[in-house]
Amino acid sequence: MRRTHRCGELSLQDAGKQVVLAGWVHRRRDLGGLIFIDLRDRFGMVQVVFNPDQGQSYHLAKDLRSEDVIELTGLVAERPEEAKNSKLTTGEIEIHATELTVLNKAKVPPFEINDSIEVNEELRLKYRYLDLRRPQLQNNMLIRSKVYHIVRSFFHEHDFAEIETPVLMKSTPEGARDFLVPSRTHPGKFFALPQSPQTYKQILMIAGFDRYFQIVKCFRDEDLRKDRQPEFTQIDVEMSFVDEQDVIDYSSRLVQRVFREILDYEVRLPIPRLTFREAFESYGNDKPDLRFGMKIKKLNAVFGNSAFQVFSSTLKNNGHIAGISVTGGASFTRKNIDRLTERARELGAKGLAWFKVEKNGLAGGISRFVSEDEQKQLAKTFEYQPGDLVLIVADQYETVFGVLGQLRLEIAEEQGLIDPKQFAFEWVVDFPLLEYSEEENRFVARHHPFTSPREEDLDKLESHPEQVLSRAYDLVLNGTEIAGGSIRIHRKDLQEKMFNALGITKKEARQKFGFLLDALEYGAPPHGGIAFGLDRLVMLLVGATSIRDVIAFPKTASAYSPMDGAPSEVSEDQLRELRIKVL
Ligand code: AMO
Ligand code: AMP
Repeated sequence: MRRTHRCGELSLQDAGKQVVLAGWVHRRRDLGGLIFIDLRDRFGMVQVVFNPDQGQSYHLAKDLRSEDVIELTGLVAERPEEAKNSKLTTGEIEIHATELTVLNKAKVPPFEINDSIEVNEELRLKYRYLDLRRPQLQNNMLIRSKVYHIVRSFFHEHDFAEIETPVLMKSTPEGARDFLVPSRTHPGKFFALPQSPQTYKQILMIAGFDRYFQIVKCFRDEDLRKDRQPEFTQIDVEMSFVDEQDVIDYSSRLVQRVFREILDYEVRLPIPRLTFREAFESYGNDKPDLRFGMKIKKLNAVFGNSAFQVFSSTLKNNGHIAGISVTGGASFTRKNIDRLTERARELGAKGLAWFKVEKNGLAGGISRFVSEDEQKQLAKTFEYQPGDLVLIVADQYETVFGVLGQLRLEIAEEQGLIDPKQFAFEWVVDFPLLEYSEEENRFVARHHPFTSPREEDLDKLESHPEQVLSRAYDLVLNGTEIAGGSIRIHRKDLQEKMFNALGITKKEARQKFGFLLDALEYGAPPHGGIAFGLDRLVMLLVGATSIRDVIAFPKTASAYSPMDGAPSEVSEDQLRELRIKVL
């Protein structure tokens, strides 16, 4: 290349050198007869000065506009003391340009290439090549690139084989809708894009590879959120002759390595573990954010003889009572508390009981129904201080903990209780194997149908399916599920039992997973694995608030790509070839 140096790499040590640089015009200023250009490339920014003595190049520089691409020759010089900029790594020097070549002009960009811009996301995605020039997004993509490298080194060091699996495949169930690809050579038949390579990685274990990993695209046609994309990337892992502990150990060490190498942050091992039940009853969901407290406390025992009618009738109906204590919440206004009550109702509760903690006892809300004795127990349970506010929900199990968990999150966010610099990891284990789907009127797999039940629960699979726990585990970071996996079923008889519990008929099982059932009969080793959501991991690593900020070319919330306009219509000929008619 013609370049001798990259913009961001120059420093005072280079003073006196003649350099050739290339990049984008970030900004042009004309000052006192001199022209100043901030020249930008991937490696940073440097200031270039054009002096009127330079004749030809000075005249060219006069016409430069933001985002023009240029190449220049010049001399590295120390800036006058008062012109030094400590915010810029190259802030002590500037380039005195002697030659300038304009490599390409740019149209006026629809928005500034600047991290502090407030531009609507649709426009950013339409001009993604400009958006990606912003330092923040450059940084995100470069960190993502580093993560690939660390992940590959880690697994290669531990004898995992990287093996690609098909993108055109038979549908596997991960619980989302499939993206389908019509087959031209088999009219009327369809491939599915993988929701994950789950069945293939299990078959690779049966094939004797022992340890597999892959950085792989997965596709799920589901409702999008800020941490969900229709196509996303997994770090997919499978291991033979292992139990939960082995998979958890390797995964923990992988995240430790990634956080150490990228952020110089030490993840302390072992990562704490919560059972699904503890998670739900203390935080109201299966992916608790442990960066702050405000744990949910069960209050059935405290209110066993409550004078408050809502509580006593709830307990009579086998319901539950639980609450959270909000530090400093006693300063909330009545309006504020009404808003929380309204929110609790939106989330499905019938109301929100509350009281404030004062120096001499409780005040407001239901305080007049709280007996001396109940007060003592409440103080012990919550360890609250004067100035706190207690919020209580009485209802059925799911509603009580679910609503309080959501309020806990929203209050913490509003009150700024979350330290954005902290990383709180936890493993969630002992999930129920099945959950009842009202919609489908049958049990469905909580994880996927290849997840093994716990050995000690096997005999309950038919009699009490709702009580069976699975050998699945999730890794959670700051309230986001970043990985999930399980020990698998490796025997055909158990796999058939599982399909049976799921209400999948023999014929259906044969048709959908016959190939896997067959493979299980030819010496399948015990095996298990996990998959990380790589996009989510990188999102949390770089402190982005949307998964779209760590994906080069993401889709909008309506699964559309504004830059290239995908999805788009196709020609009649293409449809005819596929024997497809659009209704
Ligand atoms: P699971 O469905 O839990 O497990 O997916 C694994 C991880 O992938 C991430 N993830 C997503 N990220 C972005 N957008 C999405 N739409 C999306 N869906 C999932 C999450 C999740 O933890 N085959 C099993 C893994 C196994 O059992 O080994 C699986 O795919 O971070
Ligand atoms: P009410 O008796 O309906 O006027 O309610 C008195 C207080 O109890 C109000 O603050 C309600 O929001 C609250 N409340 C009503 N139902 C419930 C419930 N199921 N759980 C918790 N608080 C409730």
